[in-house]
Amino acid sequence: MNVPLLDLVAQYRAIKDSVLPAVQAVVESQQFVMGPAVAQLEREIARLARAQHAIACASGTDALLLPLKAVQLRPGDEVITTPFTFFATAGTIHNAGGTPVFVDIEPETFNLDPTRVAAAITPRTRAVVPVHLYGQMVAMERLLPIAAASGLPIIEDAAQAIGARRRVDGQWRMAGELGWVTGFSFFPSKNLGAWGDGGMMVTSDERLAERLRKLRLHGGAKQYHHDEVGTNSRLDTLQAAVLLAKLPYLAAWSARRREHAAYYTQGLAGLTPVMTPAVDSCNEHIFHQYTVRVERRDALQAHLKSKGIGTAIYYPVPLHLQNCFSELGYKRGALPEAERAAAEVLSLPVYPELSGEQLDYVIDAIRGFYR
Ligand SMILES: Cc1ncc(COP(=O)(O)O)c(C=O)c1O
Repeated sequence: MNVPLLDLVAQYRAIKDSVLPAVQAVVESQQFVMGPAVAQLEREIARLARAQHAIACASGTDALLLPLKAVQLRPGDEVITTPFTFFATAGTIHNAGGTPVFVDIEPETFNLDPTRVAAAITPRTRAVVPVHLYGQMVAMERLLPIAAASGLPIIEDAAQAIGARRRVDGQWRMAGELGWVTGFSFFPSKNLGAWGDGGMMVTSDERLAERLRKLRLHGGAKQYHHDEVGTNSRLDTLQAAVLLAKLPYLAAWSARRREHAAYYTQGLAGLTPVMTPAVDSCNEHIFHQYTVRVERRDALQAHLKSKGIGTAIYYPVPLHLQNCFSELGYKRGALPEAERAAAEVLSLPVYPELSGEQLDYVIDAIRGFYR
């Protein structure tokens, strides 16, 4: 049996009758840049994230870079974030002119530890970038007062967490609802994926929204008049049309991912070399990834590959140990939880179209390896 890590062709087959006409409509309109689908998608994503404004952009990376540019970092300004994330989280801090300051993660959820954020704040700190890793939200109700006490804006990296939510004071709060501004990614493999690159920023700060709209268009609200230097980070109308056509399926896809996750967790229960993902009881996880911690990880991955099962390591090298950040001076052992996670994690296939037979096959293959 073959169980790829992700099967976008299976998704395409299931929904092409809704997506292809939307694509054709854009082609026939010939409005490829900033067509009406872009504004419609912005309204829909703002509603989903319960934010006042949404500003589409070219990628999830830009959805972090433009808000960081809006902070106007000066050399030596620090931005606190997690070392256990995709590179873009810290790469954008550097590219916006700041210095990433990495603090360790909570071992259960793999997310930034708010207590350690508090200890890392200095007079040079300008912002905090928590990442809702794998689709599970950070403990925002613990982070918000820490950031507020020092007047620091929170830029949520929700690239992996569209539609995720967390119960705070008895109420569900969406990823994108609580921070100053939030970035989403529509990279094709995401729970809501485009047919190319795409991103979205959401905020309820009207002045920031206006600023971000300018920054994605070379820094000017009026054509050929530039208030500051921005860039070209528009979302293609074609991508917006694809995303609008896919959006009605998102909740059911994420629910299906949750069902698969529960099935794996039950099927792997009692197998001591495998630690299944912990879901914080306040969180509704969207399982962008189903990530286990395992003993003999690389050998297990090779075994699963030999059985036709795709897996991935997100992420093998924590960002404080990346060559490009060697000047920051972090040594191995500096952030032990992130380093341990990098050595132990393995993400299993969890896409919505997986069959029960495929899930059983993965569980049996893992159990077989440790037998
Ligand atoms: C946590 C995180 N942040 C940022 C990004 C960047 O998004 P994009 O690939 O759309 O630029 C990603 C995408 O993989 C991500 O997973």
